[in-house]
Amino acid sequence: MIYTEQNVLHNTLQSLKNQGKTIGLVPTMGALHNGHLSLVKKAKEENDITVVSIFVNPTQFNNPTDLERYPRTLEADAALLATVAPDLLIFAPTVADIYGSDVSSESFDFGQLDKEMEGSSRPGHFDGVGTIVNKLFEIVLPDRAYFGEKDYQQLLIIKKMVEQKGLPVTIVPCAIVRNEEGLALSSRNALLSEEMKKRATFIYRTLMAAKERFATHTPTEVEAWVKEVFAKESDFSLEYFTITDADTLQHITKKEGGKNYRAFIVVHAEGVRLIDNMSM
Ligand code: PAF
Repeated sequence: MIYTEQNVLHNTLQSLKNQGKTIGLVPTMGALHNGHLSLVKKAKEENDITVVSIFVNPTQFNNPTDLERYPRTLEADAALLATVAPDLLIFAPTVADIYGSDVSSESFDFGQLDKEMEGSSRPGHFDGVGTIVNKLFEIVLPDRAYFGEKDYQQLLIIKKMVEQKGLPVTIVPCAIVRNEEGLALSSRNALLSEEMKKRATFIYRTLMAAKERFATHTPTEVEAWVKEVFAKESDFSLEYFTITDADTLQHITKKEGGKNYRAFIVVHAEGVRLIDNMSM
């Protein structure tokens, strides 16, 4: 069933919650793929009711062209969801239903978590994400909410917001889903040619090779190597590759025992911004 008005959905979910039902929320911006479906399957296993929100949130886009180009495929999304979970609730509101006439973000203090990478490349992005996710939590009242590790920085930021606001929801991280060539599944992949979808395996292969190098080289050497490799590829333009502490997302220049590290990459191909990351 597709809900388009927050009040109607909220009242329905509130009464289900009063009956003791648990709710799982999978927030999405649509153009659904198997990565989303893996989140939906997990939510279904762990909750009585599963809600998938489909909303291209304007406040998290700092580039109007990117917002305009973002794929919107509600009918196909609903059909795909019906194949795995015919009984779930879809929430596909309008911008006016969510924001009224004030399409703006709340200002958050995420400490250092939003200062680098997507935070510095896309000013205001994480305030927009925090704003919409908080609104969705208020509307849907989820016990659990599911987020993919492809947007790893977003995942940590949402965990932080939940902690800061003391929200009664458990954030469940879900592993990156890749296509056969290793390209991380993303709604933006729909904008790539079939040829490029295959060739973009290069990003995954470079991440794997960087991981191998990380065992014997310094983070700075690995970063320099990745930059060199991309400089030779005319079809891919590297926006950033960086290795950070996996918990604080602070850039590192040397390895220390007992810490976890993660590499983050953003590449442009055919005008599409592709994002990926890997535990080092
Ligand atoms: O990851 C996304 O698709 C979006 O950032 C989210 C979490 C649905 C908020 O709009």
